[in-house]
Amino acid sequence: MKKWQIISISILGLFIAIGATTNTSSSPEGFKNLQVLPKDISKDQLDSIMRDYAVSLGVRCGFCHARNADTTNHHLDFASDAKDEKKIARHMMKMTADINSNNFNFNNSTRTDTIHMIVCYTCHRGNKQPDGKSIQADLMKAEKELEQKR
Ligand code: HEC
Ligand code: HEC
Repeated sequence: MKKWQIISISILGLFIAIGATTNTSSSPEGFKNLQVLPKDISKDQLDSIMRDYAVSLGVRCGFCHARNADTTNHHLDFASDAKDEKKIARHMMKMTADINSNNFNFNNSTRTDTIHMIVCYTCHRGNKQPDGKSIQADLMKAEKELEQKR
């Protein structure tokens, strides 16, 4: 199984979660500032999504999450929106869900896997900034391999 397949499977819960409509304003798990993910998300689901983000971008939690204002507290302030990276990530979450829902399964296909076709890793592939050049280089390599098989 390829790495991206494992990741897109592990992320399956995310898009089911994003698609779900919630009307609760309280978070049973005590999350304070969820604007895109459903407020009733479980801690396990949230943890697994956050780990996927970190791996997909090749970063640690602190890339998106700000330090505590109280400098004696060394934990990150996960609910804070102080970092631009977190806001960009929210935009990316919506964009990714939109690409999937607007473009796949348009023909009443029963292939549920295509709903989760695009994930953070599809573009980022372990990089903060997706690198079109490295994707292009992979494509050229695949073309050469095909040439050699002929
Ligand atoms: C690529 C950016 C990114 C990375 C990396 C990331 N997060 Fe997040 N995290 C977010 C965003 C965006 C939200 C808010 C989601 C929303 O608004 O629904 C969030 C929300 C959270 C929350 C909920 C906070 C609250 O009370 O509202 C927790 C807890 C959290 N992240 C933990 C982590 C942990 C632990 C890691 C590292 C394993 C991590 N995050 C890595 C972007 C990131
Ligand atoms: C369709 C391709 C694509 C997908 C899917 C995608 N991204 Fe991105 N992302 C980009 C590109 C391109 C950039 C850099 C250009 C920009 O900032 O607009 C970027 C930039 C970012 C940045 C800013 C990085 C920096 O150095 O400041 C964050 C954070 C981010 N993406 C998070 C995510 C997360 C989280 C997901 C999944 C929910 C995601 N992205 C899915 C293409 C994508």
